[in-house]
Amino acid sequence: MKALLLITSILFTSLLKAEDGYRLWLRYDKIKNPVMLAQYRNLINSIVVTGTSQTINIARQELLNGLKGLLNKKIPEANAVKNNSIFVNKKPAGQYESPAINYEQLGNEGFAISSMKGRLKDVIFITANTDIGVLYGVFYFLRLIQTQQPINNLNIVSVPKLKLRLLNHWDNLNRTVERGYAGFSIWNWHTLPDYIDQRYIDYARTNASTGINGTVLTNVNANATILTKPYLEKVKALADLFRPYGIKVYLTARFSAPIEIGKLRSADPLNDTVQQWWKEKAKEIYSIIPDFGGFLVKANSEGQPGPQDYKRTHADGANMLADAVAPFNGIIMWRAFVYNPESMDRFKQAYEEFHPLDGMFRKNVLVQAKNGPIDFQPREPFSPLFGAMPQTPLMMEFQLTQEYLGQGTHLVYEATLFKEVLNADTYAKGKGSTVTKVIDGNLDNHELSGMAGVSNIGNDINWCGHPFAQANWYTLGRLSWDPGLSSEQIADEWIKQTFTNDKKTVAVIKNMMLNSREALVNYMTPIGLTHIMYNGHHYGPMPWGNTLNRPDWNPVYYHKADSAGIGFDRTQKGTNAVAQYAAEVQNQFNDINKCPDKYLLWFHHVSWEHKMQSGRTLWNELCYKYYTGVDSVRSFIKQWNSLEKNIDEDRFKQVKQLLTIQLKDAIWWRNACLLYFQTFSKMPIPPDYEQPDKTLEYYKNIKILFAPGN
Ligand code: GCU
Repeated sequence: MKALLLITSILFTSLLKAEDGYRLWLRYDKIKNPVMLAQYRNLINSIVVTGTSQTINIARQELLNGLKGLLNKKIPEANAVKNNSIFVNKKPAGQYESPAINYEQLGNEGFAISSMKGRLKDVIFITANTDIGVLYGVFYFLRLIQTQQPINNLNIVSVPKLKLRLLNHWDNLNRTVERGYAGFSIWNWHTLPDYIDQRYIDYARTNASTGINGTVLTNVNANATILTKPYLEKVKALADLFRPYGIKVYLTARFSAPIEIGKLRSADPLNDTVQQWWKEKAKEIYSIIPDFGGFLVKANSEGQPGPQDYKRTHADGANMLADAVAPFNGIIMWRAFVYNPESMDRFKQAYEEFHPLDGMFRKNVLVQAKNGPIDFQPREPFSPLFGAMPQTPLMMEFQLTQEYLGQGTHLVYEATLFKEVLNADTYAKGKGSTVTKVIDGNLDNHELSGMAGVSNIGNDINWCGHPFAQANWYTLGRLSWDPGLSSEQIADEWIKQTFTNDKKTVAVIKNMMLNSREALVNYMTPIGLTHIMYNGHHYGPMPWGNTLNRPDWNPVYYHKADSAGIGFDRTQKGTNAVAQYAAEVQNQFNDINKCPDKYLLWFHHVSWEHKMQSGRTLWNELCYKYYTGVDSVRSFIKQWNSLEKNIDEDRFKQVKQLLTIQLKDAIWWRNACLLYFQTFSKMPIPPDYEQPDKTLEYYKNIKILFAPGN
């Protein structure tokens, strides 16, 4: 009996201590550093929160819980501001002396945090024009403590640079998630609206902590059933839960819905009956969800229905939906991810279809473009649409879920990828016309602006599968609030909130994260190679792939290796895709001597003997990059192992095991690709490198099966 008790109590304690990652970056564990802990305890004696709305109550609760956890001490709520109070108050500051805050500048979502000067000592004032601004301010303040920043002399003003900060869930109604690597969908359509999973609330709270203010609940490969009454009731349940967290819900609209659920014969956007059907549908939706955000649409892409089925344009389709939601202030996000099989170069397709439509969209339409011209590859040059449609607000679509970036097993921090694109100069209006300025609306004076991340969230206990994948969700929130933040700062904040503030540990993890994406590019697709993965599930290398009947689904289409060299000639002598960029960019990409190495094979078919900037031949550079990629993963393993004592056992082990898979995969990519490309180059892998221990045939015969949804 005693033994049983002992075992149970050991089990119980270990369960209590089990670190499952569910709390993400909102852990609020007691501050370990005694000096900092004492400082914060001295500075914070009470909180005063005015207001009683749902949002304000959430802010109050968050502050109470957060401080209680971080300071390991209950901070009482007081009725009046005293010395050492945190004072949370929507403007005006009332009887208390407040610092000069320019409320106009704060807008609807911004906030200010300042140390109040005057009679009282050490009062911190968190303020905004709106309840949601207050909640954002509270989360920001808690982050300061979580990351152990000084909180005296605060003078912070933070206003989001983008209006729409959205997650796009590729979740199906049967709970499979397209390209999802973290379990099934968190939306349980079967039990909604009656059963409210705590996860829905935790999801909303987590998003609000980074400023995410919208979510598209359903897959872009859409199912019209979501637009039927019973499902709209389920959507309403989520919308009601999310509203106090500042989050609007959006849905994907299947273009053929009028036929599928409306019993019409056509979905032609210029047909009156069809237009009327959408107007009625919008009215119905808004009667159920008055602040419904609007629709995201994938049309005439990868088999989805769309206006072109009726010989109409994307603008005709988008405008029909825009007119339906306009009376309710809804918006349409119309995706530019299109590529007809007829196009001679897939790279050019989106631009060819959308550029001529600039100026033809209604005011409440945004065109949502993926960051690159093809499809979320490890590295792509920026999509030439950015900067090329000045009369249309362009929304950025990034992919958080790591479809092409090692899926659920590779540690890849995506902020560096996102920043590379955001910082790219389109030269659309001369030097300095960065992609950021295009999407934040500044370059062309657009009211609407936005950034979306294809979600990596599922019902795994830690939400995202790989513990480090959480960082990519966090990044989307932070970058869509402020695209100017650096990858380094975002990593720093995330590590401190998620793991520890210990200096050495932070430095090691940050180093791994900041180098992780480049490592992946090196062991998968260096020097501008692209789209050479397995078809279907997209996991692992298949540069030899040549069996699909659409040429532009086959890897050989992308690398074009032959005895002369490798790479896709998109110069003026080739498909002339470079012409879609402004002259300055064009000149750079078009000239083999000016094109940055990292994009070389995107734009040039390059001889195996070509002298690279490093002095190596192209073949040797390819070998060098592939081997460097593998070496980087080895170094990540060493670095991670050095942290064994500094990280909780559960997450330490989890990441350690995943890194082992990553290393195996990196070697698989390196060997398979080099052995295959060697059949064209006929050159040896330099003898000082470890030689592949398997044959090309071996790699060609690897078969993997994946669950549905992938
Ligand atoms: C990729 C992905 C698909 C997805 C598509 C899209 O092609 O593999 O699963 O539907 O992108 O963005 O629409």
